[in-house]
Amino acid sequence: MGISGLKMAANLLKGPFALGTIALLHLSASYAQEATGLIREDGWQSVQENCTRCHTTQMITQNSGSREVWKSRIVWMQATQGLEQLNANVEASILDYLATNYGPRAVSRRAGLGEHLLPDIPSSSAK
Ligand code: HEC
Repeated sequence: MGISGLKMAANLLKGPFALGTIALLHLSASYAQEATGLIREDGWQSVQENCTRCHTTQMITQNSGSREVWKSRIVWMQATQGLEQLNANVEASILDYLATNYGPRAVSRRAGLGEHLLPDIPSSSAK
């Protein structure tokens, strides 16, 4: 194989290799979502990078609240749990992300069962 043959082989390899790389990147991205459980919207990486050292993302995704509420949690962790001061831009992107994707919820528990779905109370059905 001459030089041009080698070049051709190299070019042939580039195609599948590039495709493979893209497929791998894609795989690792969806793996990240599965592994972190974070909604993949703007700012999720900041949360992943700054908020998962001490506890899992479940601590975050099970919570909800306004921007102020999220800010107060960060302040609380900084005051009592050893969370370092965050870069202002990073903190802003974290707060935007959390308030947008894990914002205030009207109800954080499911509603109670309707009366027609409740079991009889033994004393009331007793003869
Ligand atoms: C330095 C360690 C550390 C880091 C980093 C950290 N946390 Fe925490 N966080 C804690 C500890 C400790 C708790 C309390 C855990 C427990 O109750 O078991 C906590 C609790 C929480 C809670 C629950 C608060 C509550 O009211 O129950 C939320 C929400 C939270 N963290 C969000 C975050 C977010 C968002 C970030 C990123 C900005 C973050 N954490 C980064 C240490 C940390």
